[in-house]
Amino acid sequence: MKLKIRFTPSARAQFLSAIAYIRRDKPSAAAGFRDRTEKILRRLEIFPESGRVIPEFPELPYREAVIPPYRFFYKVKGNIIWIIAVWHGAQLPNEPELSESTKEITGTDDSVAGITRENALLLLREHLKNEKLVAHCLASEAIMRALAAKFEKDQDLWGLAGLLHDLDYEITGEDSASHGAVSAKILEEKGVSSGIADVIKKHNAEGLGLIRSTIFEHALACAESITGMIVATALIYPDKKISSVKVSSVTKRMKTQHFARAVSRERILECEKTGIPLDEFVGISIKAMSEIADELGL
Ligand SMILES: [Fe+2]
Repeated sequence: MKLKIRFTPSARAQFLSAIAYIRRDKPSAAAGFRDRTEKILRRLEIFPESGRVIPEFPELPYREAVIPPYRFFYKVKGNIIWIIAVWHGAQLPNEPELSESTKEITGTDDSVAGITRENALLLLREHLKNEKLVAHCLASEAIMRALAAKFEKDQDLWGLAGLLHDLDYEITGEDSASHGAVSAKILEEKGVSSGIADVIKKHNAEGLGLIRSTIFEHALACAESITGMIVATALIYPDKKISSVKVSSVTKRMKTQHFARAVSRERILECEKTGIPLDEFVGISIKAMSEIADELGL
């Protein structure tokens, strides 16, 4: 039986900071590290015992997969391989800390969505090689989580819809007759909830002959569209930082037709169909994107 990989929250944070650290040093090396990680973790799903016992702590019920320059410590529980810590090879493992991390292990994190955030990110990386596109998906995720919090909806579900909405982009491009529908098919085959697949299809309602009607659907349409306007605005600031972007400078530029002309103003204005006025929506979006500025490289 094929097992599934999950990261504990602290291991996930360590993994993301490892990627950020490598990227700062050498962007191309970050992509290579991610690819190697994905390959080795996929192999672990089939051969969970293929990692070695931790040499420093052979008595602990953990194993490790070495993906230079990092060490991934893991524990198999049921049909899940829990990555409990991701440490740099030069770091000396510390037993109490490792034992502490297992307390974060739970088995219920993908019960509604049908996929964990970690696996969604791996799936996205498998399909999208363009870093700007991945950044666009991460930005959409951050905004969707912020909107879900505002509406007291399921942040994981909304976040995943944002993260995965352009999954098929490198297959379909802007082909309006299939963009979104191909993503939905891939996701359904992976067992992802139809709630996520449907809303992703409807982010291209125009091309697929569908109609957006729910708050969730309008939220994804406006969230993924505003990312382009905020990035374009940040890039004309001297420091090129999202945290410097002001709401008024985004809304003012929305009125200039030639500025970021590919971004649909009409879709951004769908925020009003969720009940949020434009200014407030832009403010929520800037804040959400600033919080992951490191990952976006802005
Ligand atoms: Fe998009």
